[in-house]
Amino acid sequence: MNDSPASIRWAGDATSGVLEIFDQTLLPNRLEWIACRDVAAVIEAIQRLRVRGAPAIGIAGAYGLAVAAQEAVQHGLAPAAARDHVRTRGESLASARPTAVNLRWAVERALAAIAGLPGTTAAADLATRLLAEARAIHDEDRRLCAAIGRHGAALLPDGGVLTHCNTGALATGGDGTALAAITTAWEQGRKLEVYADETRPLFQGARLTAWELVHRGIPVTVLVDGAAGHLLKTGRIAACIVGADRITARGDAANKIGTYALAVLARAHGVPFYVAAPSSTFDLTIESGDDIPIEERAAAEVLAPLGVPAAPTGARAYNPAFDVTPAELITALVTERGVITPVTRDAVTAAIGPRG
Ligand code: MRU
Repeated sequence: MNDSPASIRWAGDATSGVLEIFDQTLLPNRLEWIACRDVAAVIEAIQRLRVRGAPAIGIAGAYGLAVAAQEAVQHGLAPAAARDHVRTRGESLASARPTAVNLRWAVERALAAIAGLPGTTAAADLATRLLAEARAIHDEDRRLCAAIGRHGAALLPDGGVLTHCNTGALATGGDGTALAAITTAWEQGRKLEVYADETRPLFQGARLTAWELVHRGIPVTVLVDGAAGHLLKTGRIAACIVGADRITARGDAANKIGTYALAVLARAHGVPFYVAAPSSTFDLTIESGDDIPIEERAAAEVLAPLGVPAAPTGARAYNPAFDVTPAELITALVTERGVITPVTRDAVTAAIGPRG
C-alpha cells in the first residue's frame, strides 16, 4: 500500500457538492469521512483536530469559503449580502486556530480570488470561483510537498531519524513535509530507522505518523516523548526532522509542543535538527518567535488523555499546543524552494520573499 491517505476531499460541483474531512480523531482505530455541510461544521472539524496540520487546515479553510458561498445560495442572498456572508464566515474560519499561519493565508488567498469579481456576481458564481481557488491551493500543496520531500531526503543521513507530531499526508494536501522527506528517502532505498515521538497529549505521532508509515510499509518505532533524550544520548539518532506551523522572518519556528525540547536535546548531542515547511508557513510580518500566538487547549486533553482519566480530580493542567524553536537551534529549513542554511534573517527573506 504505497498510496497516501488523504485528509480532505470535495465531492460534486460547487453549489451542490460537499466538503468531506477524514476524521483524524478516530485514527488508528476507525477510518471515517465526515461531511461538512455548513461553515460551523468546518470550524468544529478544525478546532477538534478532525483535520489538523498547518497546510491541511489552510486547505480546509479555503474549501470552507466555498461552503460559506453555498450557505449564501441556500439562504437566497443577493450578491452584496452573499459576499458579506462569505467575508464574515472567512474571518471565523481564519481565526479557528491561532498558531498555524497557513489557515489565515489560505482564507485570505481565496477571498482575494473573489475580490476582483463584479459586485453583481451571484452567490452561485462566488461558490464556483471559491471552489476553484481551494482546489488550486490543494493541488499546489501536493506539488510543494513533493519538492520538500526531495530536498529533505537529500539532507537526511542514513541511520536513525527522529520526528515529532504528524507532518505527513494527513497534515497536508500531498505526501507531507518532514514526513515526506523521510518517506522519499526510504523509497530511494536509503537505510533509515524511523523513530516517532508519540506526541502528548493528543498522540499525533503514535496515532497518525505511525499509522501513515505502517500504511506505507515503512518500519517505525514509537517512543514516549520523554525517551527522546535517552535515544539521542545513546547515539541512535543521526538527524531530527519536524514540521512547522509558523516560521518568522528570522527563522524562529513554532511547531507542536515538545519540538523546542527536542531541538535543545539535538544541539546538546551534536545531531542536526531540520524543520521542513512550505513557503505558506512563513510569516515575514513577524520577526521574533516570541510574537507567535500560541494556542492553549483544554485541560481535559492532559488530565484525561484519549478520554481516560490520568490525574486526580482537582489537578489543573498546562496545555500549550505549540512551542517555538529559535533559529539558532535549527540546522536548516527545508522548503519547496530549497534548503535554507544557516538559518538567518537574510537567508530566510532572500529565499521566501513575498509570501505565496
Ligand atoms: O495541533 P496539530 O496536530 O495541528 O499540530 C500540527 C503540527 O504541529 C505539525 O507539526 C505542523 O502543523 C506541520 S504539518 C506539515
